Amino acid sequence: MRRLVLATANAHKASEMRAVLSGLGFVIGQRPEGLGEVDEVEDTLQGNALLKARVVAAAAGATAVADDTGLFVDALDGRPGVYSARYAGPGASDAQNVARVLAELEDVAPDRRGAHFRTVIAVAEPDGSARWVEGVLEGRIAPAPRGAHGFGYDVVFIPRDLGGETLAELSAQEKNAISHRGLALRALAELLRT
Ligand code: IMP
Repeated sequence: MRRLVLATANAHKASEMRAVLSGLGFVIGQRPEGLGEVDEVEDTLQGNALLKARVVAAAAGATAVADDTGLFVDALDGRPGVYSARYAGPGASDAQNVARVLAELEDVAPDRRGAHFRTVIAVAEPDGSARWVEGVLEGRIAPAPRGAHGFGYDVVFIPRDLGGETLAELSAQEKNAISHRGLALRALAELLRT
């Protein structure tokens, strides 16, 4: 059985990935002890996902998987994008990041509030070779936060083709069925199967 190490130290993300990967017969190895979070210094999601996967693969001597996600708002020229986690400043809370996006869109009409989430998942080998997949969810930014589920920008993101609910008004299952991360994880499963 192939061994695979997850770059993320985030328990929720790790359990989501573990579920997909163990279903494919991979043994999930321990992240090397003492290896801190890899700084996201690149200016693209692919760059950061590849960087994190390569650092962990080299340290673990095994195949490693890493992901990076961003919210891209059309009227903000794609911001917050790769800086989604810290849009309102270093260590910003989800509520502060959401408040900044809403403030910047204050005068933007409902039909100009298009946005998408994008997740990139990279798979790297100890020799530095790597591949990546992505998942995209199209939608728009709500005028105000709504809903109690999820995290991050879920309270203001209305997926296209649904009934107008925000992601935070959907159950975890409903969100996973359509989300950027769900799509990327299914693409990862397909990549690892081949
Ligand atoms: P990360 O790369 O998964 O750490 O995501 C970066 C930032 O994007 C997070 O801090 C969240 O604010 C936001 N984010 C990522 N995924 C989601 C999601 O599924 N819903 C809402 N916000 C998200």
